Amino acid sequence: MRNVRLPGVTAEPDSARRVKLAPSILASDFSRLGEELNAIAGADWAHVDVMDGQFVPNISFGLPILAAARAASSLFMDVHLMIDRPERYLKDFADAGADGLTVHVESTPHIHRAVQQIRELGKKAGVTLNPGTSLETLRPVLPEVDLVLIMSVNPGFGGQKFIPHSLERIRTVRRWLDELGSAAELQVDGGVGPTNARAVVNAGASNLVAGSAVFGRDGAQAGLERLREALK
Ligand code: DX5
Ligand code: ZN
Repeated sequence: MRNVRLPGVTAEPDSARRVKLAPSILASDFSRLGEELNAIAGADWAHVDVMDGQFVPNISFGLPILAAARAASSLFMDVHLMIDRPERYLKDFADAGADGLTVHVESTPHIHRAVQQIRELGKKAGVTLNPGTSLETLRPVLPEVDLVLIMSVNPGFGGQKFIPHSLERIRTVRRWLDELGSAAELQVDGGVGPTNARAVVNAGASNLVAGSAVFGRDGAQAGLERLREALK
């Protein structure tokens, strides 16, 4: 039976999978947020890092900045919640303009419920975990999610070094998603740049977050271009 795709089965091989780029606005110049978003208009998503000073040892920004970014850009707003008990705020972030919401398995005893809540809000549901957390913690919710994020640094700060063991973790989750026939995005976040982007994609990633590698001194457009070149 040619031309027939089984429901839920991804047919694209690694090489054909189009990699999405998601610049993290955490590394942008907030005083020029509108211009910075304009400079990444050629990207696929805008990655929005929300930190509460509890779940991670840093505070970034919250709802008003997301709402401002939403108003200034038509990019998919990919919100990474590094906050305790994210279920308390899912609706607020959805209302403020999130298209996708990603929650940490470590941040709530009710990760399955949090994923369900995101889907009920009509948003893409993502799940993630810290580099020191067992991948097994993801497995029960894998069939329910639209995105899995493998953190390749400890969350909390931009500009850190990629943890090499992350490649093995990406390969494992890629295998699990393929076994499930899942079309979920496999996103990688932390220390990704032109020197390792190809290796990260070869390990199975479909979606790359990059902060400092994009919003460098010579502008986000140039940073994005360097990343794309590295993937050619
Ligand atoms: C880290 C954040 C990342 C960060 C990435 O806690 O989740 O999204 O902004 O920054 P770079 O690409 O500079 O490592
Ligand atoms: Zn992030």
